[in-house]
Amino acid sequence: MTTPIGIHDLSTATTNYVLEHATLAHHQGRDVAKYHKGIGQEAMSIPAPDEDIVTLAATAAAPILDRHGSNNLDSVLVATETGVDQSKAAGLHLHSLLDLPRTTRVVELKQACYGATAALQFAAGLIACEPRRRVLVIATDIARYDLDTPAEATQGAAAAAFLVSAHPAIAQLEPVSGIYSADIGDFWRPNYRDTPVVDGGLSVTSYLSATNDAFTDYREKGGRPLEQFAAFCYHQPFTEMAYKAHKHLLQTRGGTPTREVLTGDLGATTGYNRLLGNSYTASLYLALASLLDRGGDLAGAPIALLSYGSGAVAEFFSCTVMPGYRDHLRTASNEHMISSRKPIGYHKYRELYQAGTTGSESNRTMPEHTEGPFRLAAIDGHHRLYEAR
Ligand code: HMG
Repeated sequence: MTTPIGIHDLSTATTNYVLEHATLAHHQGRDVAKYHKGIGQEAMSIPAPDEDIVTLAATAAAPILDRHGSNNLDSVLVATETGVDQSKAAGLHLHSLLDLPRTTRVVELKQACYGATAALQFAAGLIACEPRRRVLVIATDIARYDLDTPAEATQGAAAAAFLVSAHPAIAQLEPVSGIYSADIGDFWRPNYRDTPVVDGGLSVTSYLSATNDAFTDYREKGGRPLEQFAAFCYHQPFTEMAYKAHKHLLQTRGGTPTREVLTGDLGATTGYNRLLGNSYTASLYLALASLLDRGGDLAGAPIALLSYGSGAVAEFFSCTVMPGYRDHLRTASNEHMISSRKPIGYHKYRELYQAGTTGSESNRTMPEHTEGPFRLAAIDGHHRLYEAR
């Protein structure tokens, strides 16, 4: 019998500040229904000047290390498309912040919003070879778009950390997964830019066709038919995208899904992302956290996951929820991370946006903003200096 492998613990983090879409719409002179209904977003997380993907990653990962320690921690895989360095893995900053063992492998992965799913599959492979190993995957991203563009309303930021192990307490991965990769120019960020170049319309149609193709591959490899799943977690650049993708998938299989059916299949997965905005690599795993926290009793249920990263790679895979999983969730702290953000007005938002521009400063002291447990204190001689509080 093969060893069951999957998610043993799942923890999340987001930024200090939040901008309500009602505030954005008001300043744009727009009907807020475009955001609340049209794209399904109510608010987006906004980073403080002393927050970045490392502080978000550390905040998400620390409770996992507190609960499980770092024995047998084989690897820390950080997936991000908001890298703070072209060479050094962001996870190495966690060594000092989280006191990681020197015997743990640390590496960073990138493929737009898909990176964390690759990390999860690589982790499963490492554990299949040696079941005592445990792997910490951290998805951490800050989604920033140019101001005054249609994409501006789909910004956001968050991290999701999950411990992958044999005999998992929360969800066991199923062996089949369907893949789709193609060279598509829907969204990318050249090295010289702080924000991505995006063809919004193409990104939506690419996501839809990639979902269909990944599911086709999943079925051809012996995966479950759609009707067996209790719920569907999609990558959520904005939560209406999950509805579009699921509707498309059901329609291409001959279905005529009503809004009620779609909501039954994925409504509980959108609770967190609707309030956080796009968190790129973390988004799918925040959808899973929301489902587990808010989706009723799912013990034994098969769950579908669709990971999409522009450029583009998609993967359709599945897991089953473990009996007793609720004892291992972090529902209260997930809800707290969202409710404890500080709401900001439109001018403060623009000010913080400008402060978040990378620039080329080799020396900079960060003003103290965040109330989170970790902060970027300074850049000194090109070194990023982080501190734990
Ligand atoms: P837009 O120009 O705001 O779009 O851009 P729109 O005018 O078509 O409006 C959006 C929806 O709101 C439409 O509904 C409107 O009808 C509706 P739809 O036709 O789509 O069903 N609407 C209203 N509804 C109710 N009341 C109203 C109202 N007004 C309008 N008053 C777009 C939208 C997504 C293109 C833009 O936000 C964008 O470019 N975003 C960034 C790219 C993106 O998120 N793409 C998603 C797929 S790609 C992906 O997921 C990967 C990604 O995460 C990156 C990565 O992988 O790293 C992005």
